[in-house]
Amino acid sequence: MKRSKDWFKDLVIYQIYPRSFMDSNGDGIGDLKGIISRLDYIASLGVNAIWLSPIYESPCYDNGYDISDYQSIDPMYGTFDDFIAFRDGCHERGIAVIMDLVINHTSHMHRWFKASSASRTGEYSDYYIWKDPVDGHEPNNWASCFGGSAWEWCPERGQYYLHLFAKEQPDLNWECEALRNEVFGMIKWWIDNGVDGFRVDAISYMEKYPGFADSPEPPMPDGYSLAMNECSNREGTHRIISCIKQSLLEPASIMSVGEVNCMKLSDYHDYASQSRHEFDMCIPFISPIVEISSWSPLSMKKNIIDTYAELKADGWWARFLSNHDKPRQVSLYGNDREYRKESAKMLASIMHMLPGTPFVFQGEELAMADIRYDSIDDYDDIDTKNVYREMILSGKSEAEALDIAAAVSRDNARTPMQWSAERNAGFSEGTPWLGVNPDYKDVNAEKEIDDPDSVLSFYRDLIHLRRGSECIRRGDLSFQLEDDPYLFVFSRNLGNESYMVIANFSDSRRHCHADVPSCDVIMSNYGRASVSSDMDLEPYEAVIVKVKQ
Ligand code: GLC
Repeated sequence: MKRSKDWFKDLVIYQIYPRSFMDSNGDGIGDLKGIISRLDYIASLGVNAIWLSPIYESPCYDNGYDISDYQSIDPMYGTFDDFIAFRDGCHERGIAVIMDLVINHTSHMHRWFKASSASRTGEYSDYYIWKDPVDGHEPNNWASCFGGSAWEWCPERGQYYLHLFAKEQPDLNWECEALRNEVFGMIKWWIDNGVDGFRVDAISYMEKYPGFADSPEPPMPDGYSLAMNECSNREGTHRIISCIKQSLLEPASIMSVGEVNCMKLSDYHDYASQSRHEFDMCIPFISPIVEISSWSPLSMKKNIIDTYAELKADGWWARFLSNHDKPRQVSLYGNDREYRKESAKMLASIMHMLPGTPFVFQGEELAMADIRYDSIDDYDDIDTKNVYREMILSGKSEAEALDIAAAVSRDNARTPMQWSAERNAGFSEGTPWLGVNPDYKDVNAEKEIDDPDSVLSFYRDLIHLRRGSECIRRGDLSFQLEDDPYLFVFSRNLGNESYMVIANFSDSRRHCHADVPSCDVIMSNYGRASVSSDMDLEPYEAVIVKVKQ
């Protein structure tokens, strides 16, 4: 594909979680042939890039984010030829291919880790982070973010290895030059195989907390303390990211989006300002926009305003409300009962009208909602099971622990894509690896595709609007009513073109008094024909107008 320097600014990216997208062979797990069979559907949305969550060989302790061979496709997803067919199918439709790059850790089944475990002196001995016991225990108090200690004893080598995530995901040692060269070679190989970009997984922890000192964070119920913040955003990490960008990505105009821990505003700048040559944009792992328990419309608005100011001169934004690690956006931020359609459309209106590259997570365009299973055993996600265990350890009853784990569960986003009202929502002819959401008879692509009032049609119109307007893609942003807790009123301006969004981020009617120039309504989730400076907005109402010149 031909790419200009700033091509990533014109993308609308569709995220596919391959396991749950479309199963072509009846084994209950989505696959590449299934994705290929739905490329026309994806293209019909108007998106021009696909981010594929990992499809590499993996024992799947964390659904592919534990890679045992970076250069093979896992047989459950298909073959390398299937990947090539997928890539070509995307390119023929003008869709860029963005692969997930998981290089903070590998699987414990990776041949590097097997060799590293076997010898303290061999070729791979330094590829991972090994430490001797201290007083017969783990080298420090660090917790794995999936529960328990971040150190696992390896009897074969007689040392502990570090895993900030699951014990099946040992952290790579980025201080090892041979490891760096090997990973750089692997990235180059994927570029040579025609990929257009990378979403770089959990990448703020390459350089660890100096001296591997104890984490000062309060202990979790099992006694260990998370060290993610201490290990985040260190100088050595920024240096390696910049080296990858300058030596591998920039020369080939490969786009990159980093999943990083943004603890303060300047972290956005450090990762996503062009002059630093790190990422084109970043997905903050932690920020008010993604904090499940503490978010509010106002904190979200403030975050949008602050990060806009931080990156306006020299950076770019990834815009998303959903991905495979979060509950569904219509359930978390909207209202998946009385106002399902309205709130889904309102959220989309805000995200797609902001400056920055919008990400659509599969099924979001149908307003797919959270799932609730009856037993913890019905959940698959390693993190959900960990939250449940932590809750039981902290004294909650089984029912309370299930409620808490279900509310934050990553499986909410991972239920099979709802294609139709057929068996298993048309996802698979076998038994799906994760239970289908029982609402699929009402919420599915087939039902929404020809309905002009559906959430799906609204997404198509929004994406079409954005792709056709330089002003929406590149224009400036200014907010009115910055301190209003529920109203989002903002304008996009470029030259003498200007759009405005007026939205009510709440489930009750609200009066909106704002400066509204003479304009035409372009899109509305309540069929509104005109707007004025003083008007009542319905619950979750959103209207997009074009200002008359
Ligand atoms: C990222 C991924 C998540 C995974 C974790 C460890 O946050 O998005 O799914 O569990 O990294 O790789």
